[in-house]
Amino acid sequence: MAENSKFDETPRITVDYMRGILLPTATCDAWDLIWNFQAKPDDLLISTYPKAGTTWTQEIVDLIQNEGDVEMSKRAPTHIRFPVIEWIMPSVGSGLEQANAMPSPRNLKTHLPIELLPPSFLENNCKIIYVARNAKDIVVSYYHFHRMTKGLPDPGTWEEYFENFLAGKVCWGSWHDHVKGWWKAKDQHNILYLFYEEMKKNPKQEIQKLAEFIGKKLDDNVLDTIVHHTSFDVMKQNPMANYSSLPTEFMNHAISPFMRKGTVGDWKHHFTVAQNERFNEDYKKKMADTSLAFHFQFQ
Ligand code: A3P
Repeated sequence: MAENSKFDETPRITVDYMRGILLPTATCDAWDLIWNFQAKPDDLLISTYPKAGTTWTQEIVDLIQNEGDVEMSKRAPTHIRFPVIEWIMPSVGSGLEQANAMPSPRNLKTHLPIELLPPSFLENNCKIIYVARNAKDIVVSYYHFHRMTKGLPDPGTWEEYFENFLAGKVCWGSWHDHVKGWWKAKDQHNILYLFYEEMKKNPKQEIQKLAEFIGKKLDDNVLDTIVHHTSFDVMKQNPMANYSSLPTEFMNHAISPFMRKGTVGDWKHHFTVAQNERFNEDYKKKMADTSLAFHFQFQ
């Protein structure tokens, strides 16, 4: 109860547009510093649209780098191990400052669309891992995440949020443009493009792809250890990977846990028939110009 009242009393962040993309005001205010961020050739960047499985991928990458050393991966919470270059958050700190102070080789994270990515990442040919997830599960996950964190604006009702999502009027912009933009960039740059749904279906195979991209050869038993420690149920219990280390006034897991469901197709419990039709019609138009294809459910 006391924790809930702390959450209720904490103001939410405000947002603003930066080159047409809705972002936290603090990010917009620091934009010149972010845009001029100096990436180094041995930086590894994980890039996603919010709720695509970023934290999961971060945990896998850390364990690959440390050859399955689980204790090592528990040295600090995710947001400390992987600073978010555009994050300047009350009660969490500045990911930008953290990244600048971090010794190399650095692991970094971003949700920026490709056109807002600081140019030094591509100029230095940094390794970039992009993870995409189907938009229907994203909008549900994002809605619940808005409810539980003061690091995002109030989502309003589910119906209102659904419409704002389709209009691209949510933080980090249009999902459609985000996944398409990074998809287009992947063949010209050092980008490994993965899918949440494939990670769910065959985690070992996708972990193997990540290890190859990172340049690590791992034994089969190490791969199995990583599959186990990055499964939803194990990560949900890991305070260094489930965001429970952040103050409750910033993220309130009693409202909706960060590790919420971790499934493919949960959207079916939220979308009305009319919303699904509206979504599909809009999707057909917005995705007509790309070869990208998503799985919205498992058969
Ligand atoms: P749900 O809200 O659908 O459960 P991000 O890290 O990009 O914010 O993504 C969070 C989403 O990934 C949440 O989705 C969360 O439950 C899910 N997730 C986190 N760890 C996972 C894991 N190990 N396996 C499957 N899904 C995971």
